Amino acid sequence: AIAQLSALEILDSRSNPTLMVTLTLADGRSVCAAVPSGASTGQHEAVELRDGDPARYCGKGVRRAIEHVEGDIAAGLAGRSVEDQAAIDRRLIELDGTANKARLGGNAILGVSMAVARARALVEGKPLYAAFGKSDPTLLPMPCFNVLNGGKHADSSLDFQEFMLVPVGAPTYREALRMGAQTYAALRGVLHARGLSTAVGDEGGFAPRLQSNEDACDTLVSAIEQAGFRPGVDIAIALDPAASSFHTPAGYDLSRSGTGMVDRAQLLDLYEDWIGRWPIVSIEDGFDENDWQGFVDQTAAQGGRIQIVGDDLLVTNTRFIAKAIACKAANAALIKLNQIGTVTETIEAVDLCRRAGWRQMVSHRSGETTDPFIADFVVAMGCGQLKSGAPCRGERLAKYNRLLEIEVQLGTRARFANPFAA
Ligand code: PGA
Ligand code: ZN
Repeated sequence: AIAQLSALEILDSRSNPTLMVTLTLADGRSVCAAVPSGASTGQHEAVELRDGDPARYCGKGVRRAIEHVEGDIAAGLAGRSVEDQAAIDRRLIELDGTANKARLGGNAILGVSMAVARARALVEGKPLYAAFGKSDPTLLPMPCFNVLNGGKHADSSLDFQEFMLVPVGAPTYREALRMGAQTYAALRGVLHARGLSTAVGDEGGFAPRLQSNEDACDTLVSAIEQAGFRPGVDIAIALDPAASSFHTPAGYDLSRSGTGMVDRAQLLDLYEDWIGRWPIVSIEDGFDENDWQGFVDQTAAQGGRIQIVGDDLLVTNTRFIAKAIACKAANAALIKLNQIGTVTETIEAVDLCRRAGWRQMVSHRSGETTDPFIADFVVAMGCGQLKSGAPCRGERLAKYNRLLEIEVQLGTRARFANPFAA
């Protein structure tokens, strides 16, 4: 049973405060969980409670969220068994009492919810990935490596936020990681040879001043070839334009990369052109989060050939996912625990996707900690895809390296498959 809940104001990978929650059981054993934080957040995400005190961390302190963990939440959960995650998460939602976790804070609530999952694993004597009560937690995810950072994640010349490598030809997770790392090294060489910066952005990808978004795709293909792999066969490309971040009242503003202003139909044509030119298997948030028509048009036109992922559009919320399933606005969902705020609601989002035949890609946030929770979560849920940035920066590698451990623990039971295979 839960004896104590406390929280510490720690720093995330962008040097912003976040919470590390410690849950102590009645027998004295304890577990910790740390909460991530996004930069290109969806409008309908669970509220991240910040102090707003300009004298501390530019207003981004999380002391109030910590007070809620140690006050209302600790009092509301004291003595409860950690065995029933759903009941505890329901209680957290009830204690908060708002639709978007604005009172206690989605950050406070998620930290506690994740700690409860870990405490249950401890009590059951199981690794975290085996403690979610799912039947066959043996599928390792296809890693999607964000190796070129743009948009709100870097001071680069790219309007699009993420250009990812997907090692579709890898036979195992371990080999996929090796292929990603070798191509990342080759990409560094390609950029260096062109006299471009190899400093990295928030998610560990390079952030060079390339000529255009198109140049970014060409550069990726060069790196794949330089590393000795076949573009599209061994390694494919996935994109997260994060279009909400360049959508304006006048249209989609691609002027940072030199393309200029385009409308919905022109942006769809641009994606069509790109799918023909490069081995692209997935596009996430290709349109603004309120441009449902854009997503519907894209899914109708391209959904049979590539994965169309909703991130800001869906915010890991079953309400939006159900709407998108009904109107065919995507065929996959990005899954971020802190968008919705509890482990149980995240599981419900995954289950809803699965029932509809949708794919699920579990995701880190651009502001991360070294907590590898999502590595265990993606295996527990059998989602089959994970994005955790480039194979660079400790907070990104914490997840990729944790999956290596899980793969070894699973031994011959470990499974791995290309989710994009026809
Ligand atoms: P964020 O970006 O964590 O900054 O929101 C990640 C994404 O858009 O997928
Ligand atoms: Zn995204």
